[in-house]
Amino acid sequence: MQICARAHPNIALIKYWGKSDLSTNLPSAGSLSVTLDGFTTDTTVAKAASDELLLNGEPGGAQADRVFRWLDACLTHRPPLHIDTRNNFPTAAGLASSASGFAALALAVDALLELGMSKAELSVLARRGSGSAARSIFGGFVQLKLGQDSDSTTAAPLLDAARWPLEVVIAVTQAGPKETSSGEGMERSRLTSPLYQAWTECVPGDLEKARDAIERRDFGALAEVSEASFLAMHAVMISSRPGLLYMKPASLRCVERVRELRREGLAAFCTMDAGPQVKIICLPEAADDVEAALRETPGVVELHRVGLGPGAHLVTA
Ligand code: PMV
Repeated sequence: MQICARAHPNIALIKYWGKSDLSTNLPSAGSLSVTLDGFTTDTTVAKAASDELLLNGEPGGAQADRVFRWLDACLTHRPPLHIDTRNNFPTAAGLASSASGFAALALAVDALLELGMSKAELSVLARRGSGSAARSIFGGFVQLKLGQDSDSTTAAPLLDAARWPLEVVIAVTQAGPKETSSGEGMERSRLTSPLYQAWTECVPGDLEKARDAIERRDFGALAEVSEASFLAMHAVMISSRPGLLYMKPASLRCVERVRELRREGLAAFCTMDAGPQVKIICLPEAADDVEAALRETPGVVELHRVGLGPGAHLVTA
C-alpha cells in the first residue's frame, strides 16, 4: 500500500525566528501565516525494506538524514519507509519548501501507519520537523500558539482562505538554495544577536494586532504589523554575529517599490523569510499592478502569483 499527501507552503506574516528547545524544535514565540495554493508538495510513502527518500526524483542526501532522524525521534517502532517527495516550486530557496514538505510527510505517515492523529497532533508532529510546517497542516490564516510544552504547542486555523481571499505575488531575485539554513541561522541569532531578546518579547503584541486586523479585514493594519514583523526579524538576522544578510540589493529594491505603491494607494505589503525572495501580499484588485511594477524592478528574475489555499490533505495516488 502507498499513501500520497499534498501540502502547500505557508508564508508567515508574524514571523518565527528562534527556538527555546532544540530537542523538540520548540519555537520561542508564536507566529501567524497564510497558506498558499498553487505551490504544492506531493509526498508518497510506503513501507519498504530500508529507509529511502527521493527529493524531486533524486536521492535526498542530507535532507533524507534530517527526515529519518525526525521520524525516529517522534515515532517509536516505525517500519522502514520509502518516501518520494516532489515540489512544483524551487526547493530550499526561501519559498517554504520545508513547511509543505514536513506537513505532507506527517499526514502521509500518519495515514500509512494508521496512527489516527488529530489535526493538532499532526501539527505538533510537523512542527518537530520544521517549525513553520506546523502551520501548513491548516489552510487560510493560521496561528501557532505557544503551549505549556512541546505537545501543546500547535497551530490552529483562524480564518478560511475563502473568507478573505488575498493574493500573493512572489518576486524571485535569486534562484538556487539559500546560503545559511533557517535552523542554523536562528540558532546563531539566539546565541549572538543583541536584539534577540527584544525580538521575542515583541511577538505577542504583534500577534494580537494581526489577529485583530484579520478579524476586522483591515488590510492597512495587517500591512503595518506584518511589515514591522519581517523587518524586525531581518534586523535580528543582520545583527547576528556574523551577520545573516538574506536581504539582497534586489530584495530591498522590491520592498521599496511596494512601499511606494502603497503610498500611491495600492493595497499591498511585503514580507521576506530566510532568503532573498520577496513575497507581496495584496488585495486581489491590486495584484495586476503589483505584478507589473515588479516585472520592471531590476533584479527580479522570476514572478509567481498564487492565492490562499487549503491545509494538508490526502490525495489518491
Ligand atoms: O520552519 P523553519 O525552521 O524553516 O523556519 C522558518 C522561519 C521563517 O520562514 C524565516 C519564518 C516563518 O515564521 O516562517
